[in-house]
Parts: sequence; structure tokens; C-alpha cells
Amino acid sequence: MKILHISDLHFPKKLSLFSLRGKAIVGYLNYHVRRRTKHPVVLIAAMVDTIKSLEYDALVISGDLTNVSHPSEFQNAKDVLKPILTDKTFLIPGNHDRYQKRAMGPNPLFENAFAEWMGDSLSPNHYLRTKRIAGKLFVGWDSNLAIPRITANGYVAKEVVEKTVKISEEPYVLVGHHPLWNPNSEIESSSHRMSNRKEVVEGLLTNPPELYLHGHTHTNWVKLPGKETPFTIVNSASSTRLSDSKHECGFHLIELGKQTHYRRFIYSENKFTETNPILYEETEGVV
Ligand SMILES: [Fe+2]
Ligand SMILES: [Fe+2]
Repeated sequence: MKILHISDLHFPKKLSLFSLRGKAIVGYLNYHVRRRTKHPVVLIAAMVDTIKSLEYDALVISGDLTNVSHPSEFQNAKDVLKPILTDKTFLIPGNHDRYQKRAMGPNPLFENAFAEWMGDSLSPNHYLRTKRIAGKLFVGWDSNLAIPRITANGYVAKEVVEKTVKISEEPYVLVGHHPLWNPNSEIESSSHRMSNRKEVVEGLLTNPPELYLHGHTHTNWVKLPGKETPFTIVNSASSTRLSDSKHECGFHLIELGKQTHYRRFIYSENKFTETNPILYEETEGVV
């Protein structure tokens, strides 16, 4: 089973300031001035082309397709991803896709654009979705909060965790946006992390996933199974960002099998090339 995992695409889109409200104005200016140049259009095109050329069974996108949840950003993201949105694709929203209450409501913008690739909902009260791809069960969470402040916290309700561990006895792949573990060199601030992740991790222990795929912190890692989290955790954020001294950016192709291989691809010299994964033992970081 080959799972291609990309995350935090943050596709650039020029927006009129008059079409923005509240924190989206600050968020857009912040993105436009500081981060836009880190996500060059040539890299995005190269990523899509590289994915098209690779062999895989499932493509997982773990959120942050937009920057401030503007309606035109969702359409743009869908247009860019069109060549790789197929029945193999499974995606979930990130905090930037739930940026304001305006993006939520009875017809959430993310769902409007991407329902076809989000899997089936298992709960009318919570976001809990599943999709079977090439025989493998994928479970999707929405750990994001549409809050008015410029914070990026996450939260997963206890009921969602309890339902998740009861879905099936078979091995499953869990997809969320926020990390459940960080290496010591990448500790998240209290305004960026999933606030209840210790409880979430404990709740998963009765029937843990074989793999947890996420993004949110824009640097790649693979955490091998350990005592507290007896499953591999893979961070593929940000797949559309240029790497620098603080950000190891790219995406992963995970080959699940008797011996699992974690292949990593990064953008360098105008193309994506394969490089070594960044592997950690659980003891090299914290839940
Ligand atoms: Fe992000
Ligand atoms: Fe994020």
C-alpha cells in the first residue's frame, strides 16, 4: 500500500482587501508580505507534475489548502489540484480552511468545494469521516476552531476519539491537521497546538491507528512507534514551501508493508527529488 501525503498547500491567491473582514485582513496582509514568496507558483506546478508521475494507491491532503478561507481561494485550490483529485484522494480541512465563522455555517466553504474527496460522515454532530481506498480504511478529523483571534489552536472532542476507536478492528490510517507529538526542536506554542492532545493520544490507545498523518507545523518529520504513541506519525507540511534553515519542506510517499518505507521528496534546483526522511524516536520529542 503506497500512501502519498501532502499538506499545508496554502495556495497563493490575490484578494481584494475590500472582500475581507476581521482577522482575515490581518491574516491576508501577513501572508502577502511574509509568506507568499515562500510558496512560489513554479514549485506548486512541479509538485502537481511530480505527483502525477509517481505510483501510489492513495493521496492524503491534511489541510490548509487556503490562507484566509476566502471563497475564491477554495475555487483556486480546487483548480490547481484538479489533475490529482481522483477517487484515490482523501482530504481534511486545516485551521486556515476554517479561518472565520464566515467559512462555516450550514454550507461550509471547504465542504462546498471538496465534499467529493472528504469521505462519508459517521456523525451528524461531529466531523468524523471515513473513506476506503484500495481496501485501506482512512479516518478523517477536523481539529480546527473558527475563532475570531489570530491563534491556531486545535481541539478534538472526546466523543470523536471514542467513536474513532470503535469504527473497526482492522488497521486504519488516521488523518488530522494538528500534530499529536513534536520533536524537542519544534515545540509548538500554546496558541498553535492542539490543546487537549494528551487526552486525545490516551483515548486512541484502546485501538490505535497504524499511522497518523498531519501537517500544521511547516517542517517535515516521521516519528516511529513508541510507548506513548504506538503508531508512526508523519508530518508532510508544507509541501509547497521552499525549504530553509528552519523549515524542511516536502512530502512523503509511505510504502506500508512488512517493512515500511518512508520516502521523502523535496524541491531543489527547480524540481522535486527524493531525499532522506527525517526520522525520530518518540523519546526525542513530546506528546
Ligand atoms: Fe499551514
Ligand atoms: Fe495549520
